[in-house]
Amino acid sequence: MLFESYQLKNMKLKNRVVMPPMCMYSADTLGFANDFHYVHYASRAIGGVGLIIQEATGILPNGRISENDLGIWSDDHIPGLKKIVDLIHANGSVAGIQVNHAGRKAKVNGKIFAPSALGYSNDYEMPHEMSKKDIKDVIKAFAEAARRADQAGYDLLELHGAHGYLIFQFLSPISNQRTDEYGDGKVFLREVMEAVTKVWPKEKVLCLRISATEYVEGGVTPESISEMINSVKDLGLDLIHVSSGGNVLVKINAYPGYQLGLAERVKELTGLPVIGGGLISDIVLAEHAVASKKCDLVYLGRVLLREPYFVLNQAKEVGYDIEYPKAYLRGKK
Ligand SMILES: Cc1cc2nc3c(=O)[nH]c(=O)nc-3n(C[C@H](O)[C@H](O)[C@H](O)COP(=O)(O)O)c2cc1C
Repeated sequence: MLFESYQLKNMKLKNRVVMPPMCMYSADTLGFANDFHYVHYASRAIGGVGLIIQEATGILPNGRISENDLGIWSDDHIPGLKKIVDLIHANGSVAGIQVNHAGRKAKVNGKIFAPSALGYSNDYEMPHEMSKKDIKDVIKAFAEAARRADQAGYDLLELHGAHGYLIFQFLSPISNQRTDEYGDGKVFLREVMEAVTKVWPKEKVLCLRISATEYVEGGVTPESISEMINSVKDLGLDLIHVSSGGNVLVKINAYPGYQLGLAERVKELTGLPVIGGGLISDIVLAEHAVASKKCDLVYLGRVLLREPYFVLNQAKEVGYDIEYPKAYLRGKK
């Protein structure tokens, strides 16, 4: 099933393998894409990945995880991003982008803010509590980023609501201790989605990445996060990308497929298709994840950093006759 096609709205994938967003910290300090990004993303497209979701891309300069994140806060970023999209398309894959505000996990010059004035760790700056104006400005920036992503030609937009970045900081009771209406984390997510869906085309896929557990008492659970998703999904949420952790410094016991149970539970509780994965580096486990309906699509992260042609090579290994890039046909035998 892994190598079978999949369609969601206008998005047609040739297989169910997803390259998840992975920060490359390789942009210049103004957030512009360069040759590294063009080669990096085109290689995974040539390598047979069905859907490539571009790394966390900053919606505002102070929302970047680092000074070298890709940016989407200016129309000037659109041509470089469009080149990434065009290269992915030209090499047979589908292009998604993850848009992000890092909140208290931003390591940049500028005002660092978060739902509450609670620090992440000693290595990070203590954030200011966001004012209502800060919140409105960020919501507007998410919508502007969505408009630019559409203009650049992306097929899927992913809101980064996982790993302890700003949207997740609102969703988690550990990082959100506000006493106003935004103390209910769903309110911020709903307002972001309302703004984004005004500009992101209805026929294109809107995805939300979430952490379904924080591995500590008092954090979100698959049940609480699914309830939040259910309260906003009517606005036009199509796909959930299930991950975990990142809001609290805690050791995670990771093993191959360790987040598949979370993906399965979120799928069950929300009724939405999900992308699942975590430490998957063999095709048999990826196939099992999809065939056993734990998830609809599987993400392969670090293995694709090591092996851009993993999908082509593994298909050959298991004897699946995958479509090959025309120029590489002589290497198929
Ligand atoms: C270098 C690197 C950068 C990452 N950057 C992001 C990111 O920008 N956004 C995100 O949601 N997850 C990010 N992640 C997490 C991955 O998307 C993925 O969830 C994680 O690596 C687990 O999958 P894997 O075990 O298959 O690698 C990153 C992971 C790595 C290794």
